[in-house]
Order: sequence, then structure tokens, then C-alpha cells
Amino acid sequence: MGIKKTVSVLGLGRMGSALANALVNEGYEVTVWNRTPKTLQGARSVATAEEAFKSDVVVTCLSTYEVQQPLLTNEIKILVNLTSGTPEQARATARWAKENGVEYVDGVIMAVPQQVGTPKARILFSGNENHHVLDVFGEPVHVGADAGLAALYDLALLGIMWAAFGGYLQAVALMGTEGIAPERFTPMVADWLNELGAMLPEMGEVTQHRNYETDVSALDINVSGLRLLTEANREQGLDTTIPQALHDLFERAQRDGHGAHSIASVIEVIRK
Ligand SMILES: NC(=O)c1ccc[n+]([C@@H]2O[C@H](COP(=O)([O-])OP(=O)(O)OC[C@H]3O[C@@H](n4cnc5c(N)ncnc54)[C@H](OP(=O)(O)O)[C@@H]3O)[C@@H](O)[C@H]2O)c1
Repeated sequence: MGIKKTVSVLGLGRMGSALANALVNEGYEVTVWNRTPKTLQGARSVATAEEAFKSDVVVTCLSTYEVQQPLLTNEIKILVNLTSGTPEQARATARWAKENGVEYVDGVIMAVPQQVGTPKARILFSGNENHHVLDVFGEPVHVGADAGLAALYDLALLGIMWAAFGGYLQAVALMGTEGIAPERFTPMVADWLNELGAMLPEMGEVTQHRNYETDVSALDINVSGLRLLTEANREQGLDTTIPQALHDLFERAQRDGHGAHSIASVIEVIRK
């Protein structure tokens, strides 16, 4: 077995601490830096980011690129970026790295800190195919040669998560107005999400050939349903931002002539 690379972690927030702990547990020599001085058992804390750049690999996990970018210098040898950002932010950092002779890996963590270091933590990465230490954090999956792709997958998947969580919380609030507790209602939601998930491959295919004929459920009936949902939430004294936004989006597709088409036709409005 070869000698392990030395690794620094910049950012000891919830996720950065989990990453640093996983490295320590795997026997790496770990250096950590955090804006607010913090210690981590088994790791060496340094006062400046520059000191952390002496390690073979620098892993960054800060709140945003805006916070991270001013810290980076060409002293870094290999940069494994796990700070969340947009595809364009990832590409710009990849360009900066190339110009500065820094080897760059862009990754996103599709997991919560408690899953880091287990196979449950999927780490999507793009650009450079060498994942360096990503396998310590979970299951690395290379998603393409463009450094921006990991961020694109990340935000697309999180977008589904946020929409689903928003829908769930709205439903819990709605049921709660009549005293129905989440534990009574949530098992039905889990089954419902499974059924909806099974419909997605066909919906995805329809968005590609763009033939929106349907004998299942027309957009017209879904726009009516969203109007009812919005009204019901208002009647029960709740915020209507989510159902109203969906109603308005779907209604725009209806106005564009998709009333008799499937829900998939809403993508025509989104794509504009
Ligand atoms: N938590 C998750 O479940 C999760 C999952 C996937 C991806 N991520 C991504 O991981 C990254 C970190 O998330 P987190 O949950 O660890 O966030 P967090 O707990 O809020 O930690 C944020 C980190 O950024 C640092 N920071 C904030 N502003 C700074 C500044 N102006 N200068 C220097 N450092 C600054 C903080 O330092 P201080 O301690 O000094 O404030 C801290 O180390 C984010 O990009 C997030 O999207 C998180």
C-alpha cells in the first residue's frame, strides 16, 4: 500500500466536519481550517488557509463560492471542490485552476453529513476523472467531462427535492387545519410518491418527442384542480404561494393551447 496523501479541509461547518472526520477515520493526515477557529479530533488546525495549502489535496466545503473564491491561490496542488454552486461557477473555477496550474475536481454531495463515509453518500463529480479522496466520503460517480455538470445534476435533483418537500409541508399544514397529524397521513404520501416516481420515465420520454396527446389526464383538468387546491388552502387560512405558483405556470401552458394535452406539455412554458 502506498503512502497516503496529506489532505486539508477548508470549512468545518456541518458538512466540512463530516468530511474531515471521514478522512481522519481512514487514517489520513488531516489539516483543517475554519474562519471561526475550530478544532477537530485527530486533525491539525491551522490559523490561515495558506497553511492548509501545503497538503497534497485541499478539499473545500464552504457555504458559497463567493466565500471560497477569495481564499484560493496557486499554492494549492489539487483542489477538490465540494462547495455547492451553479454550473457556471464550477466552470469558472475550473478555468481559474487551469490557468494557475492547480489540478481541479468538482464534486457535489448528494447526502446529509451523517451519511458521509458510508456507501449511502453518493458524490457526483465532473471534469477531471481522477476522484482523489472522494471515495473516502462515499460512492463517487463521474457524470461527464464538463466541470459544470456535477453542479447541474446537483441543482436539478435538489430542485425535485425542494418541490417535493414544499408540497409535503403544504399538505401537512392543510391536513393540520383539521387536526389530522402527519403520522396518520405520511404513510399515504410515501406510497403516492412511489406511484408518481413510476410515471416519470414515460413523462421524460414525452418531453423528448413532444407529442403531448393523452388519454390519461388533460392539462385542463389539472389547472382546475390547482385552482381548487389554491382555494382550499386560502379557505383554511394558509399561505397559497406554492399552489398559486403551480396554478399560474400550468395555466400559461393551457393558454398556449395545451389544455387537451398531458401535464408534460408544461415543459414548453418552462423551456421558453
Ligand atoms: N449540510 C448538508 O446536508 C449538505 C449536503 C450537501 C452539500 N452541502 C454543501 O456543503 C457546503 C457547506 O454546507 P454546511 O451544511 O457545512 O454549511 P454550514 O454548516 O453553514 O457551514 C458553512 C461553512 O462556511 C464557512 N463560511 C461561511 N461564511 C464564510 C466566510 N465569509 N468566510 C469564510 N468561511 C465562511 C463557515 O465558517 P464559520 O464556522 O466561521 O461560520 C462554515 O465553515 C455548502 O455549499 C452546502 O450546499 C451541504
